[in-house]
Amino acid sequence: MKSQSKLSRREALMNLAKLSAGFSLLSLFGATALAQNPADYPVDCTPPKPSGPATPFVPGKIAALPRKSAFALSTQEIASLTLGFQKLRDLTVSQPNNPLGWLLQSYVHCWYCGGGTDGKAGEEIHSSWWFLPWHRCYLYFLERTLSKLANDPNLRLPYWDWSTQSNLTQTLPGIYNNNTSSLYDALRGVTTGDIIPSEFVGPQAMSIVLNASNFSLFGGVDTTINGGQAGQLERIPHNNVHNWTGTDGDTPPTYGSDMGVLATAARDPVFFCHHANVDRMWPSWQAVSTTHTNPTDSSWLNHSWTFYDENGVWTSIKVSDVIDSKNLGYFYDNLATVPASKNKIMTANTTGNASTTTAAAALTPLIAAPKEARTLKNDPATHEVALPQVHKTSLQALSSGTGQQYLLTIDGVLIAPYSSVSAKVYVNYPKANAATTTEIPNFVGFISSVAKVRKGSSHTGHNHGPQRQVFEIGADLAAILVKENAVKVTIVPINNRSKKPKTMEFSYGEISLQPLK
Ligand code: C2O
Repeated sequence: MKSQSKLSRREALMNLAKLSAGFSLLSLFGATALAQNPADYPVDCTPPKPSGPATPFVPGKIAALPRKSAFALSTQEIASLTLGFQKLRDLTVSQPNNPLGWLLQSYVHCWYCGGGTDGKAGEEIHSSWWFLPWHRCYLYFLERTLSKLANDPNLRLPYWDWSTQSNLTQTLPGIYNNNTSSLYDALRGVTTGDIIPSEFVGPQAMSIVLNASNFSLFGGVDTTINGGQAGQLERIPHNNVHNWTGTDGDTPPTYGSDMGVLATAARDPVFFCHHANVDRMWPSWQAVSTTHTNPTDSSWLNHSWTFYDENGVWTSIKVSDVIDSKNLGYFYDNLATVPASKNKIMTANTTGNASTTTAAAALTPLIAAPKEARTLKNDPATHEVALPQVHKTSLQALSSGTGQQYLLTIDGVLIAPYSSVSAKVYVNYPKANAATTTEIPNFVGFISSVAKVRKGSSHTGHNHGPQRQVFEIGADLAAILVKENAVKVTIVPINNRSKKPKTMEFSYGEISLQPLK
């Protein structure tokens, strides 16, 4: 390290500039500085107690206005959003117990992702069919609060448009990258200009998400079926963009915070921008096909959660209140579409219903790996099973778009609560490694997670227990399999930059391939 006396004048000036920027940040965003101290890590993110009985949410009270891309806001819209977040941060300083303030708002997310102290966490709303509706509610109440604080009834959250195939939008939106803005967060690993790896948001990834054949595969599974499971939307762009945005997951003391740890993710204002685009994928998926429909189960529609509204009123809101976003005062100015090069990737004649991805097969499932748990570290692993003629016949039909849909199931996926995991899954591409493209039909999705709690924190967080992760076999992959004598499933661990990881570890059990009845 250079001694002070050897610093050039330019370096000294730069250091001075950094220092004074730090001081003005401290006064402007006292709460940010406070919360960026690792000692402040939430070991108890219990949100404030209800102020009384919950008041039911009344849909459609405000005008539905468009949510726009964060790359396309007007100067006035940027100013309004920035003012809203500034006032949100100010509340945390002036009234630390006000549940509407920035830090306590982030605790609500922490509470619902198992980040609370043992015995003090709320219902888990990730990795199941609660994922989309819960986050839609959370964003809505935050949006109303920002609108009120900024005194701008037209304020709507912008979306981070990583789904459009362009380097201009597959990067951190510039308005979040200005370190004198309330939209900035110092605990990030990326900056505007860094490009999100195509593994996470490229044409094949977006095609798998938007072409998912039913709601379970797209948005997650009923929690009463094996504890639920994450859909492709959550596992591919959602989890990976979280981890990409956060600091390095292997480096203390931040270990992925803010965005790469669910307990701290909502401290970063870009969380809400990322989630607006995740939410935008919901109507986008519905628009792709008339068969893309929401669950109709009353256990889903009638499920409710409670939040503080913008006036501090404890409010209950049901899933059925939010399936039409216009009831919440917004819609998207445009929807994402399946990348043009991928139009026909999933043409299975699916009869899969909306509430289950459990395969009920006439054909014996092909077991590529037996039930026994095995651990995957930094290197890929391949499992294979012979492919009998009877399955080839069935896959032949699938390849022509008329057959039964096939699912690949990886069961018993067990991930430590402090680990962010990402592993690409390929079918019949056994040479795949971290550098292998995902723009091939053989790539079917990710095993992935965002850490629930920060590594090294004083509590262990809640674990999900083993979960099932399911992948669809598209028509063009079926056409490849027809010519093979074995099914080979290769799992390739990667880090949040899509490179070979240093400290990956998770376990999984049975791997099977079978048609969905
Ligand atoms: Cu509740 Cu993006 O996580």
